[in-house]
Amino acid sequence: MNYPGAPELKAAAWTAVGVSRPHESAELHVLGQATYTDDIPEVQGTLHAALGLSSKAHALIENADLSAVRAAPGVVAVYTVADIPGTNDCGPIIHDDPILADGLVQYVGQPIFIVVADTHDNARRAARRAKIDYQELPAILTPQEAKAAQSYVLPPMRLERGDAQAAFERAPHVVKGKLYVGGQEQFYLEGQIAYAIPKENKGMLVQCSTQHPSEMQHVVAHALGLHSHHVQVECRRMGGGFGGKESQSALWAAAAAISASKTRRPVKLRADRDDDMMVTGKRHCFYYEYEVGYDDSGKIVAAKVDMTSRAGFSADLSGPVATRAVCHFDNAYYLSDVDIRAACGKTNTQSNTAFRGFGGPQGAIAIEYVIDEIARNLGRDAYDIRRLNFYGKTENNVTPYGQEIVDNIIDELCAELEESSEYRARRAAINAFNSGSPVLKKGLAFTPVKFGIAFNVTHLNQAGALVHVYVDGSVIVNHGGTEMGQGINTKVMQVVAHELGLDLEHVRASATDTSKVANTSATAASTGADLNGKAAQDAARQIRERLAQFAAGQYGGEAADVRFFGNQAHANGHSVDFAELVQKAYLARVQLWSDGFYATPHLHWNAKTMNGHPFSYYAYGAAVAEVVVDTLTGEWKLLRADALYDAGQSLNPAIDIGQVEGAFIQGMGWLTTEELWWNPAGKLMTHAPSTYKIPGISDCPEDFRVRLFENRNVEDSIHRSKAVGEPPLLLPFSVFFAIRDAVSSVGDHKVNPPLNAPATSEEILRAIAAVEAAS
Ligand code: MTE
Ligand code: MOS
Repeated sequence: MNYPGAPELKAAAWTAVGVSRPHESAELHVLGQATYTDDIPEVQGTLHAALGLSSKAHALIENADLSAVRAAPGVVAVYTVADIPGTNDCGPIIHDDPILADGLVQYVGQPIFIVVADTHDNARRAARRAKIDYQELPAILTPQEAKAAQSYVLPPMRLERGDAQAAFERAPHVVKGKLYVGGQEQFYLEGQIAYAIPKENKGMLVQCSTQHPSEMQHVVAHALGLHSHHVQVECRRMGGGFGGKESQSALWAAAAAISASKTRRPVKLRADRDDDMMVTGKRHCFYYEYEVGYDDSGKIVAAKVDMTSRAGFSADLSGPVATRAVCHFDNAYYLSDVDIRAACGKTNTQSNTAFRGFGGPQGAIAIEYVIDEIARNLGRDAYDIRRLNFYGKTENNVTPYGQEIVDNIIDELCAELEESSEYRARRAAINAFNSGSPVLKKGLAFTPVKFGIAFNVTHLNQAGALVHVYVDGSVIVNHGGTEMGQGINTKVMQVVAHELGLDLEHVRASATDTSKVANTSATAASTGADLNGKAAQDAARQIRERLAQFAAGQYGGEAADVRFFGNQAHANGHSVDFAELVQKAYLARVQLWSDGFYATPHLHWNAKTMNGHPFSYYAYGAAVAEVVVDTLTGEWKLLRADALYDAGQSLNPAIDIGQVEGAFIQGMGWLTTEELWWNPAGKLMTHAPSTYKIPGISDCPEDFRVRLFENRNVEDSIHRSKAVGEPPLLLPFSVFFAIRDAVSSVGDHKVNPPLNAPATSEEILRAIAAVEAAS
């Protein structure tokens, strides 16, 4: 590239961030050359493991006869809880998560034993030969049952502000009801997998598909009775994580490592899709009871909500998920007097866990449902009621948990979308269409998003990185984040390239590795690029400063005036290729590598009072969806979707738009077609794509307009960008409420359709019948 003009002008024009670049592995993905854990060439002597699973939801194991498993073809060993050298636990926070059942099974699918065989197939076949006698116990399956029985994995939480009771007494109108929103399977394309290879002197290398290598290291060390320095965990990439590999990769890592440590041979444990869905936790489904007071204009004056999630048999991340739900019940709205309660129902089902949005979507959808009802009760457009309740900029700008909102752009963002989506004109057109169409009914909805960025738990908001500049001028960056398709490596490489004035092809990212960067946080809460980008920038900056010092020594002038851009260093009128400068610096014994660190400032959170400043900033967005529903079959189609998302000053607009599109479709699947169904005995019957419907390409709207809102983070985030991983998952609320709008047209918008999520065709037909009965 050519950079005409004075060095300052040239430096200002040069950038490696804020530009669209393909994902660093895009070509490898498409060519099938990207290495996932199962593609790593196997070490000679590798064995394969499978898990033996419980067939009962809640039972004591009276007798486990594993002789037929042991005698099966190819079987090398069978391990039960008695064989675990260290602790039988893989729980991330509360230690109530056994690796293998210890006399008690708590859900259908709970692992009881590990079978190790010569092949993957032999291990799976052998696992089915177990003869287990159970003494069955009563099982709790739903959040409603858990609530009735006060069966919780953690003490319930409550956030109050103002005086909700008094505000209710003054409220001119009250809307009250119940809502159920189902869970969601992460459905990462690459299933859970771990490959453990014993190393000398008690060492254990675990190649694992995980969002949290450091946590895998801890769990494996504890399970083996070793120290962390004995265990090395590496992850080059995941074929998707979506939260499902934050804590729940641990069981697989531990089981593979236990088997490898006992057999002293490499052991791979790759979950078949059905086993993966039977064993691992999903997005929490939520049951809500709500009561909201409002005035004649539609302004909310009091809000009470009681949410109960289906946590499953153990705590896992259910506490933090519920906390995020509590902190997102407000969504974009100022709620003066609130009483928000959340409880994690202990049920005899898979232990539910992180899933994109982490409780945020579950919190926010409840208030959106309520606003939808208020609008219908008042005969107003729901979008107008939403606007009326938005947070203010200088007043009404403190969240129920006490954080002042200083970056509110929801009004401008929505105004822009209102115009570009032609919302008002389409509303009129849809009304006209519906009045002449008795069977096909169209619906339209406009929904906003405000999402807090940072881990609620303050200490998790830290990251480290390691940058090496080699003597030929090429650069490698290692950081604590993990690549799951979201493009974190591309963004971090851009940050490093920018700092050193290089084009992107000079920088490479290596696999995440616990022996390179220690004590990392999970790549989660959408903070991956924010945290690791800053840490990598810190490392690269230190190298650049050393090189600038060296260049000033060589060419004269001040180190502070040396500029790096266009793959060159520019010092005191001299321009020297980066590689040449590096070569000279090496000979002069300048350190050409550095570590970097970042800790997000200003955060604090009191978990007891549920108050503080848990988020670094907020990301905003809004979407408009238009659907058509066949009122005879309950089938529907998304005709057009417009989404506007605030990625701040985006590091990579192409990747960010991809994240918004993906999250939108994934969130739409959650709220419409993806139904988890357990039979009365507690067995998950939707445990494969044959019975569990994720969106396909034909479900994407033909007219899909995704744009990024022009903005700049007011917080000093990495190059003033904003996180993008999770918040857009809330944008397809617009699809759900467009369906509800279409259904409500059946009753001339006079009746609130009782519509639970997912809005499957059956659920839509039920809602239509209810509206017809009430009209
Ligand atoms: N995008 C892809 N392609 N695959 C994924 O697994 N996970 C999501 C989101 N986007 C995911 C994804 C989730 S749950 C999170 S928390 C963020 O990415 C994590 O990455 P980030 O913090 O680097 O954005
Ligand atoms: Mo994402 S649910 O925070 O891994």
